Amino acid sequence: MSDVVLERVWKRYDGNVVAVSELDLRVNAGEFVVLVGPSGCGKTTTLRMVAGLESISEGTLTIAGKRMNDVPPRDRDIAMVFQSYALYPHMTVFENMAFGLRLRKVPEAEITTRVRAASASLGLDPYLDRKPKALSGGQRQRVAMGRAIVRNARVFLFDEPLSNLDAKLRHEVRLEIARLHKKAGATMLYVTHDQVEAMTLADRIAIMEGGRLQQYGPPMELYERPVNRFVAGFLGSPSMNFLSLTPSAAEVLGPIGLRLGVPESGVASVGIRPHGFWVDSERGRPMQVDLVEPLGAETFIHGLVGGQPIVASVPPATRPAVGDRVPLAALPSALHAFDSAGNAVPHGATSVTAAHP
Ligand SMILES: Nc1ncnc2c1ncn2[C@@H]1O[C@H](COP(=O)(O)OP(=O)(O)O)[C@@H](O)[C@H]1O
Ligand SMILES: [Mg+2]
Repeated sequence: MSDVVLERVWKRYDGNVVAVSELDLRVNAGEFVVLVGPSGCGKTTTLRMVAGLESISEGTLTIAGKRMNDVPPRDRDIAMVFQSYALYPHMTVFENMAFGLRLRKVPEAEITTRVRAASASLGLDPYLDRKPKALSGGQRQRVAMGRAIVRNARVFLFDEPLSNLDAKLRHEVRLEIARLHKKAGATMLYVTHDQVEAMTLADRIAIMEGGRLQQYGPPMELYERPVNRFVAGFLGSPSMNFLSLTPSAAEVLGPIGLRLGVPESGVASVGIRPHGFWVDSERGRPMQVDLVEPLGAETFIHGLVGGQPIVASVPPATRPAVGDRVPLAALPSALHAFDSAGNAVPHGATSVTAAHP
């Protein structure tokens, strides 16, 4: 059974701002769904409508099968963790976690049990008597999560909980959240603009742009079969390369060893990920390198193909240098084809074939 269901949900703010358009989203019980997209696409608004902090202009929200549109936030059985996790500075870690339960008049023995359990799972036992100012950023974020966990809520909502942390901590707390989900088995709806968080945490990713859901599915499905150029370009780093095709007759993208043909197939552009290339001195066609980014485990090389910029990932052992001509090849199966509206042209419907150099 789906736990959190949004059906044709709209959010209009005063002044005709449409923040969310006709959103259909089903989150299954125990599922970890990540809502991802660029700033301003409607992620926070969606989360706040689920939490009850923002009214729903049109459409239906149900949680565990019950209509929630008009149910006050405290009766929705939801716990929320925000990006700015204001802790009470004068309270200890224990008191910060216990506070919400005290307000709800939970018996003291029960409060102690729940706080102890949350603190153990988050590695906070050594800090229970400390005040927030004596904690690192990551520890504070864990306290904020602990505050949500002790609620034993049915649904957890996260709004960019890692964006205030530095890169290393972000990774640690990310792992913490993944473990937490495995252990608690709660339903989680997690908002981020970071595609790495989305790819690594989600059972399913819902990717939004301009208030509209673009695609919803398991991370690798979105990565391998993006429905449009927006999804294709958003997931993956560096971003997918896009080469626009002139509507003239068959065109040969000689420099990457590919031939793209038959304009009536409706293909307006093709995409190929930086990792879709390999160095092939026999079949590849040379790309003149104008920028090299060595990352250690892999190296990105930049250059022009038919006047259009390309980034390719190559093994560091090839030691590419600016000015080199690197022979790049790619398989037709690594290609994504898009029509003039930016929608993916179904696999097999194109006449993209490998060139015979
Ligand atoms: N209270 C508000 N009044 C009017 N417009 C708002 C309000 N809150 C958000 N918006 C607008 O709604 C859109 C979506 O915002 P938001 O959900 O915060 O995006 P995200 O979290 O994806 O960055 C944006 O265009 C934003 O400016
Ligand atoms: Mg936001």
